[in-house]
Amino acid sequence: MKYKAVIFDLDGVICTTDEYHYQAWKKMADSMGIYFDRTINNRLRGVSRMESLEIILEQYHGPALSEERKVELATMKNDIYRESLHQLSPADLSAEVKNTLDTLRADGLKLAIGSSSKNTKFILGQLGLGDYFDAVSDGNNITRSKPDPEVFLKAAQMVGLAPADCLVVEDAVSGAQAGHAGGFDVACVGDASKAGAGDYNMASFGELTRIVTGG
Ligand code: BG6
Ligand code: MG
Repeated sequence: MKYKAVIFDLDGVICTTDEYHYQAWKKMADSMGIYFDRTINNRLRGVSRMESLEIILEQYHGPALSEERKVELATMKNDIYRESLHQLSPADLSAEVKNTLDTLRADGLKLAIGSSSKNTKFILGQLGLGDYFDAVSDGNNITRSKPDPEVFLKAAQMVGLAPADCLVVEDAVSGAQAGHAGGFDVACVGDASKAGAGDYNMASFGELTRIVTGG
């Protein structure tokens, strides 16, 4: 095996909650008359909730907003987002993702999560993956979000391995940068793959089984 562990981003990698993030931010932005589209949304991938809000507010041209008001807007978005997460169920875990995870595990790899989201544990529970991963590093145990490598370094530490032994899987350019900054190889899907941000830019998640064997 080329790697001993795989550290997965969550939103946009394990599940399609990146779309729910987009829809929730869109509702918040519309309610404030702020222009927001999918291109801007791609810059929010991997970035913390409050930093995401600041990116959206680049398009806000009204009176200055207090810190309290900003927290209110982020809370409004999170409430809408959490509401949509209640619809998530194990049926939202694709067969390709589940089969690939099971194959990697059967090959003896440690499997971990490295996500900026504070909703990580709730989402894993909804998907039926509450106890599945060997380690979960998320928005609750970090002080700096991606592109800082902290969340991945903590995940590697939790599984007791050096970054060189772990492969990071990401859909965010900021996440790929975080992986590289931490000394990890990075395999990308989705937006980050299109941008060519990874050492491996995958067309589909299932390619991981070949990548980890070094084949
Ligand atoms: C990341 C998403 O996984 O989590 C970002 O890619 C999001 O878009 C971040 O802003 C924080 O998520 P949450 O659930 O804590 O608001
Ligand atoms: Mg992501």
